[in-house]
Amino acid sequence: MAEFYSDEFIEEVRLNNDIVDVIGEYIKLEKRGSNYFGLCPFHNEKTPSFCVEPNKQYYHCFGCGQGGNVYSFVMYVENLDFLESLKLLAERANMQLPEMGSLLNKEKENLQKQLFQINLEAARVFYKSLFDSSNIVAQMYIKNRGLTKDVIKKFGIGYSNSNWDTLSTYLLQKGYTQEALLQSGLAIKGQNGKLHDRFRKRIMFPITNVRGNIIGFGGRVIDDSMPKYMNSPETLIYHKGKELYGLNIAKNTKQKRMLIVEGYMDVVSLHQSGIDNVVASLGTALTQMQGRVLKKYSEEVVISYDADSAGQAATMKGIDILNGIGCKVKVLSIPDGKDPDEFIKKNGPEKFKLLIEGAISLVEYKIRIARKQLNLEDMDSKIGFLNTVASILVKVENNVEREMYVNRISKEYSISVDSLNAEIYRLAEGNNKKQQYKLMTVKPKVIVKDSKKNEINRIIQNEMLIMAFICNENSVFQLIKERFKPEEFSDVNKATARVLYDRLTQNKGITAAELLNIIDSKYASVFTTEIQRAHSDGNVEAAVLDVFRRIELDKLELLRKQVSSISDNEGDVELLNQLLKEIRLKKKK
Ligand code: UTP
Ligand code: MN
Repeated sequence: MAEFYSDEFIEEVRLNNDIVDVIGEYIKLEKRGSNYFGLCPFHNEKTPSFCVEPNKQYYHCFGCGQGGNVYSFVMYVENLDFLESLKLLAERANMQLPEMGSLLNKEKENLQKQLFQINLEAARVFYKSLFDSSNIVAQMYIKNRGLTKDVIKKFGIGYSNSNWDTLSTYLLQKGYTQEALLQSGLAIKGQNGKLHDRFRKRIMFPITNVRGNIIGFGGRVIDDSMPKYMNSPETLIYHKGKELYGLNIAKNTKQKRMLIVEGYMDVVSLHQSGIDNVVASLGTALTQMQGRVLKKYSEEVVISYDADSAGQAATMKGIDILNGIGCKVKVLSIPDGKDPDEFIKKNGPEKFKLLIEGAISLVEYKIRIARKQLNLEDMDSKIGFLNTVASILVKVENNVEREMYVNRISKEYSISVDSLNAEIYRLAEGNNKKQQYKLMTVKPKVIVKDSKKNEINRIIQNEMLIMAFICNENSVFQLIKERFKPEEFSDVNKATARVLYDRLTQNKGITAAELLNIIDSKYASVFTTEIQRAHSDGNVEAAVLDVFRRIELDKLELLRKQVSSISDNEGDVELLNQLLKEIRLKKKK
């Protein structure tokens, strides 16, 4: 029997295997900007040109052109076929493979189905019970909290009465086995060996997966007893780190961003106020997996946790997790009340919408937190603040953005722009980021910094110019392809040249914009300049040949510099003279 796995399962396995983590197990990766670089495992190289993009969850080698997602990586590196890779990655993520045909898994599948049914039956029992005349206290509670019938229906909110075994008895009568009830987490075996209900005397919130199947429950007491909330345990169908409360409803929102809150009541209450892009991470710290799921359904995540210190700590963690997976993230602070639910009860939905609009970036949030510990009277405290701010800003990789923050903070806290910048650069240096920072802050044309930089930069630029010409004019390719092969291009341009040559050899066109995707992003701005320059009023072919000649000249000049830097060696002097002659000759042409 042929093996078959659903697209859903395949996608879930992929989501559970972060590409940076997986590839990081094979090669050493170093963070540069938002990407990671390492030595390519698919070809021999001395300088890293293998790039892993956490945001897009793919990898690409600028050297050999290999690229793909986590599956293709494992297939190539382990020499496995797709199914084998799927199995390996599923195992890596501790995920059960739905092995087709095996008895064990048939049973498991069966049990899963039963658990879904049991949860659905239970939700019906709870829902009905909420409106039962014998449960006035529950109805009072719901009324006090201002929940409408509509929202109760929408979220399937219910009530578990105070009896020991109402639900268990009902489900057993329906024919579900003891074992299944225990597995569902809804029943617990007492010391007398009999089953009783896990949830009693609680407002019940069904937790659903994205498809809307009920996978567990959260139950809130209606008085002050403890624990305030009780939740289903992990089961065959409920994995806490993966689910988000309310996502099955929120995923239908028209909004591009998603709010994440702490509690059931926050979700329900915001939905009731017409804010439909909200989910809850359910008390536990946000996990990477939840982050990835969120990212799948929204372009930006607004963290809107409780205003207390626990909420603040959770916000910090959430920010780092979301940021780490390349998710745009903002923070909403609640100025009045403990959580979104309380705020909206006091101030209404419009005021809350203003808070959403006013959500601040993670940098601003982190600075604000640091600021709370700042004592402006105290010099040490001020220095500490400056250090913290610099350590936050050093991570901002966008120059314009960083500069904006530097300016703003220097004004707000009367710290000079220069001292703040100096501190940022000092940290950048310590982080080995100096090179990167130089690259980003100086004009993009200065690429290599040493005595040979002019030649090297010119070569890179002229090569790009030739490639840009080739994109515009097919005849240029015919003219140049034999004289200038892809492997003769500089390392920076090799991969791009190879793609370009391959395409044209196969008589397929390629645009300069496409090449821009291949080129190392650091050089993208250089390349765009060359694209603009690649226009000639006169004879295109002559222009290209001239560029080619200049490349050769620079190569010779480089060689000359190299040779002359080796001192007092007669053989080299001879070589040098020969080179000089050649250079003079070429220049005359
Ligand atoms: P909160 O204590 O902030 O509760 O916990 P809440 O959602 O605002 O509820 P109300 O407004 O007091 O009714 C936030 C979330 O943390 C989890 C629950 O998911 C809750 O919604 N939690 C809290 C628990 O799992 N157990 C607890 O004992 C408390
Ligand atoms: Mn609350």
